[in-house]
Amino acid sequence: MADIVSDRQHNAYFASFFTPRPTPRVTQKQLFGKHIVLGVGGSIAAYKAIPLLRRLTDLGADVEVVMTASARHFITPLTFQTLSGHPVHTDLFASNSNMAHLRLAETADLILVSPATANLIGRFAHGLADDLLSTLILASHAPLLIVPAMDGDMWQHPRVQQNVQTLRETSVEVLDPEFGTLASGHVGWGRFPSEETIMSSIISLLTMPSDYHSEVVLITAGPTHEAIDPVRYIANRSSGKMGHALAQAAQKRGAKVTFITGPTSLTPPPSVHTISISTAKEMQNEVHKHFERATVVIMAAAVADYQLTHTAATKLKKHEQKHLSLTLSLTPDILGTLASKKTGQFIVGFAAETESLIEEATRKLQEKGLDMIIANDVTQPDTGFGSDTNAAIVLDMHGIAENIPLMPKHEMATKILDLIRHRLGNR
Ligand code: PMT
Repeated sequence: MADIVSDRQHNAYFASFFTPRPTPRVTQKQLFGKHIVLGVGGSIAAYKAIPLLRRLTDLGADVEVVMTASARHFITPLTFQTLSGHPVHTDLFASNSNMAHLRLAETADLILVSPATANLIGRFAHGLADDLLSTLILASHAPLLIVPAMDGDMWQHPRVQQNVQTLRETSVEVLDPEFGTLASGHVGWGRFPSEETIMSSIISLLTMPSDYHSEVVLITAGPTHEAIDPVRYIANRSSGKMGHALAQAAQKRGAKVTFITGPTSLTPPPSVHTISISTAKEMQNEVHKHFERATVVIMAAAVADYQLTHTAATKLKKHEQKHLSLTLSLTPDILGTLASKKTGQFIVGFAAETESLIEEATRKLQEKGLDMIIANDVTQPDTGFGSDTNAAIVLDMHGIAENIPLMPKHEMATKILDLIRHRLGNR
């Protein structure tokens, strides 16, 4: 991941930050009034925090820099102090810190850690607080955006990926490294994200609409488990990622979210009222309990269609029966029962199909009295169950409303919420 620059390039690069620059292309101060804490980690990419700082201040943001101890091996605080107009924070216990971590935590509109080393990512993921930057992150409710900087092999390490997943599951935005020629000369994943990519994430986080602040959104996710006996159950391949992404996106846009989820390995999004269930019957009970207060209902769960007609009270013994026949009966059709209870709720279903996508989704939309249905073909490797990405066709009573191409599920969640918002108007 390290970009090796020659001394001449290095000096020319630094000199460019102190020469007057043309007026930024963006005429309005898009980030005026926004207070950003820029955390700088100990990576060779630390020098890339300088132009980033310049871009943010050009857009009107007020930026305070926090450097880790190892960052100071790569760059001096004076550079950041000169460009930000604020003293650089480096030490949790500095005599003049007057509890800087609390002030920064409370006043930040965004905490941006760029570059973030594997060590920093691991400490954030495990809630460690042994220096100023990690302490203020734990003390703050501000959105956190992390820009990783490390060699491609380190990025691919399972431990690093596990830490990244842990952060993403708690609503932390972690940018992926980009594909290209690495410092090692190899070509692969591991290049530091471009300044444009970072700026686009910052602006979308700081200008995220809060257009759901008047909405109460009920979202279901994940599979259900239908017991065969105390040990065995029938399930499906749902990971809960789609519903989880919808809950995170709705919460970020100001909605009051009730999240009913079947068993998954995901950590519930923070600040979201999460209810865990196992069976279709339990999910039906919870959906009916929270339906009346909801203004928007999004059923992303893969509710089992069948349950055992009879659940054994004790573990079925395989030596007693060489062949086991199971008798299944239909589970309650939760979504199908909601239309008759509607008092203004906007009801969105999903359709998981392996063929006749539009026809089947249209049938479900009409039969269940839905306002919208998200039809996804679950036979493709990178869509549907378990994947981090998805693609869908969105239908409403007028027909095809939108074709959502393959994209990360958290981006699809935003698109779906945009479509619902558009249908609801600015009520
Ligand atoms: O969880 P992921 O791994 O991220 O995968 C996402 C997903 C594929 C599960 C998701 O995108 C999706 O398609 N969810 C719906 C899966 C499903 O059960 O589809 P269906 O066509 O069988 O059901 C149609 C609708 O009826 C769904 O909204 C479902 O929640 C609902 N339903 C189904 C059965 C039942 N007994 N009661 C219901 O309410």
